[in-house]
Amino acid sequence: MDREETVCHCMGVNYGEIMNAIETGNLKTIEEVGEATGAGTGCGGCQDMIQDILNEFYSQA
Ligand code: FES
Repeated sequence: MDREETVCHCMGVNYGEIMNAIETGNLKTIEEVGEATGAGTGCGGCQDMIQDILNEFYSQA
């Protein structure tokens, strides 16, 4: 996924912002990503994608 690609349309949060937040904040859950970036706190429709990003991040670690 492109870092510029918007993941959360409600809050205007892109993939790169979510990855940075996970990395710098050591975030583990959708809720923590929401607190840090706002992503997933609107309609909730992007929460599956946020979970996928978390899974991807921690499978590489
Ligand atoms: S698209 Fe992320 S909360 Fe609606």
